[in-house]
Amino acid sequence: MTPSTSHSGAPHAHHHGHDHHDHGTPDQQDGLAEVLDLDAELFAPYLTSVTARVADAAGDGGVTQVVDLGAGTGTGTFALLERFPGSRVTAVDSAPDMLARLAGSARAKGLGDRVRTLETDAGTGLAGIEGVDLVWASASLHHVDDPAAALAGVRAALRPGGLLAVAEMDGMPHFLPDGAVAERPGLEARCREALSALHAERLPHLGADWGTLLTGAGLTVEQEHTEHLELRAPLPASAGQYAHLVLSRIRDALDGRADPADLAALGTLLDGGPQDVRHRDDLVVRSTRQLWVARRPADGS
Ligand SMILES: C[S@@+](CC[C@H](N)C(=O)[O-])C[C@H]1O[C@@H](n2cnc3c(N)ncnc32)[C@H](O)[C@@H]1O
Repeated sequence: MTPSTSHSGAPHAHHHGHDHHDHGTPDQQDGLAEVLDLDAELFAPYLTSVTARVADAAGDGGVTQVVDLGAGTGTGTFALLERFPGSRVTAVDSAPDMLARLAGSARAKGLGDRVRTLETDAGTGLAGIEGVDLVWASASLHHVDDPAAALAGVRAALRPGGLLAVAEMDGMPHFLPDGAVAERPGLEARCREALSALHAERLPHLGADWGTLLTGAGLTVEQEHTEHLELRAPLPASAGQYAHLVLSRIRDALDGRADPADLAALGTLLDGGPQDVRHRDDLVVRSTRQLWVARRPADGS
């Protein structure tokens, strides 16, 4: 693979700025970074099982050159460095803050020599990167404007026989048990419905049929796996923090788009009072995750 430079002069990615997930103010970015790290911490066994599936698919093929597409804080980067001890990862993201944070974490973990960062828009191809054994794209491909163009870029970066692993979730995790806010039954379901409407407008590829898109890009889908994850009490304190961050972001995103009484009820889960998700012991964290593992045909076609 042609080495990419750290924070290359690649054109700054265009600014989506259309979703609470996307580039926003530094505060929003910090919030997202913390959400990503807490998610990886809470669902660590899942991440481990997913990288094991990818290693199974790779077989004895050897994984030394890896790209983490839309790497965020590097949860995938670090999991893959551990799974494939002989590997180096190029972490690609359009958000410079994320890459700076990732590079700092890599240095702090003594892994700086195995990680490079590349600031670019994953939707416009991976110029200068080729011969990659594995591209990992977790919760990132649904952000690109044109998934087919992004997948064509991934395919071109892979060596013949190389793998693409796409990990996605069906939406925001669920947190509340039924009746969590007695005076507003069905609160979380209604908020999720309003959020789905927002996503349909702004993140149209969330929940896309990646199997079909991968096949359309000339990749052979070898695995498709869905897992319903559920974490119940006793939960670590980080589960409450995670719920608080995610629900705060949902409340901000739904400002003006949901029933004000629902937004006020959501506020009672976030305000530090008796109902606050950081204090209650009845949270159930549920999330559905999907994985596709696809291969560039070994004949290079
Ligand atoms: C939800 S986060 C996922 C981060 C990480 N892969 C994980 O699973 O924890 C999505 C990441 O994709 C990045 N991103 C969004 N659109 C992008 C694009 N067009 N090109 C490159 N990165 C992008 C965002 O900056 C963010 O870091």
